[in-house]
Amino acid sequence: CMVRHYKFNVVLKNTTRMCSSKPIVTVNGRYPGPTLVAREDDTVLVKVVNHVKYNLSIHWHGIRQVRTGWADGPAYITQCPIQPGQSYVYNFTITGQRGTLWWHAHILWLRATVHGAIVILPKRDVPYPFPKPHKEEVVILGEWWKSDVEAVINEALKSGLAPNVSDAHTINGHPGPVSGCPSNGYTLPVKAGKTYMLRIINAALNEELFFKIAGHQLTVVEVDATYVKPFKTDTIVIAPGQTTNVLITAHLGGGKYMVAASPFMDAPIAVDNMTATAFLHYSGSLTSAATTTLTSTPPKNATSVATNFTRALRSLNSKQYPANVPLKIDHSLLFTVGLGINPCPTCVNGSRVVASINNVTFVMPKISLLQAHFFNISGVFTSDFPGNPPVPFNFTSTQVTNFATKQGTKLYRLAYNDTVQLVLQDTGMITPENHPLHLHGFNFFEVGRGLGNFNPKTDPKKFNLVDPVERNTIGVPSGGWTAIRFRADNPGVWFMHCHLEVHTTWGLKMAFVVDNGKGPNESLIPPPSDFPKC
Ligand code: C2O
Repeated sequence: CMVRHYKFNVVLKNTTRMCSSKPIVTVNGRYPGPTLVAREDDTVLVKVVNHVKYNLSIHWHGIRQVRTGWADGPAYITQCPIQPGQSYVYNFTITGQRGTLWWHAHILWLRATVHGAIVILPKRDVPYPFPKPHKEEVVILGEWWKSDVEAVINEALKSGLAPNVSDAHTINGHPGPVSGCPSNGYTLPVKAGKTYMLRIINAALNEELFFKIAGHQLTVVEVDATYVKPFKTDTIVIAPGQTTNVLITAHLGGGKYMVAASPFMDAPIAVDNMTATAFLHYSGSLTSAATTTLTSTPPKNATSVATNFTRALRSLNSKQYPANVPLKIDHSLLFTVGLGINPCPTCVNGSRVVASINNVTFVMPKISLLQAHFFNISGVFTSDFPGNPPVPFNFTSTQVTNFATKQGTKLYRLAYNDTVQLVLQDTGMITPENHPLHLHGFNFFEVGRGLGNFNPKTDPKKFNLVDPVERNTIGVPSGGWTAIRFRADNPGVWFMHCHLEVHTTWGLKMAFVVDNGKGPNESLIPPPSDFPKC
């Protein structure tokens, strides 16, 4: 294994999309940002230098950060932000992971433009558990706002209302032609007869997406940097935060084939309905006369497409890559996730939309939780996060009259190596909605999911404890639930939140604190000397 050095200069860059220009925050002037390439077991050092006016931090989404929580990145959770003019070296080792992950800013809404791929190659001489593709391509799905993204969320926080939706979705930074602006989209060149691996990342702030390629089936081989049993599909469903590797064989003779990404949202809320388009382009037919085959993605409320896709996901569970699902459970938790309404005298309706887990709207601390934990600083958080929802603040209830939530900086405490079963239940408060929940510091197994209320008596009997999919971000179905299991084998403070950025902002977040173990390699290491100060 080796040490890989990267330098991320965070700078403003004037960028044109949809026929209008604006300065955006970027890494090294690029949107999407540079791809970080490493191998399993490598150590990665990324020097992040802040040249913009915002405080910032970068998160390495899905990297387990075993004992190195100081390098995880969520602002005020594991670190104070890197202030303008300052820098910080993120230093971590990639242990037991290979596949596609990604990095993104983890403060304010800067991740709209500050994001990029992490490609973790298997150890040298270890092959993929599928035929080696001819070539690999990163495909980042995102959203584009014509206006300034920070202004969008600040306006919403002032009014108490929902923020504006994006103006377009993007594929590798480009929406494709949109009405009134005949711009070029992204083109992926292919050779007839060859197989390609696409490393697809959903970096959008607020929307789950469908992804499809005209005339070509996709073979899913990996999600969230864990191998799955390969299966074929026309369409993939991918939530913000998730990654999906697919194989695609260029089995046709030539021509251009549309690549499309559009929203999946089965709630009656406003979404950006634009379909982002790109093209798969066979070499040897690169003339303007090339036949073009179009496609269309499912409608935004195509729940069955999403359900079928999710059901097909299974861990590879081979001898080399076993699914180590915890069987004995130390903590059986039930978290409701959803929206709420709190009073706000200065807001438009005298109230503001909030979000919560078990009716707690998380309040960000002034210094990072990890520092407070490591240095025993009192008064920053409490360890009384409720393991069950309060009654009668109930899920999928039509009878709720009290939409108000409590506020607090509450953590749930786990001993080293404790096992957790966590049922995430959409409350359907205000409206049922999908919630892609992301857990930092761990992979978990999705052992079950269903619609309606989770039934603690009957549902666990149907859990898949053999080959459930292993991931770091899970879509809680709207009006339904999902059950995950993980082992707390990583000491530190680990954020869990909805990866719809608007829900995180509204408070759909909490954190687990995992104490050190007693063994020699079971403690959090001390912070590095350049660790940012608040
Ligand atoms: Cu991808 Cu806490 O984030």
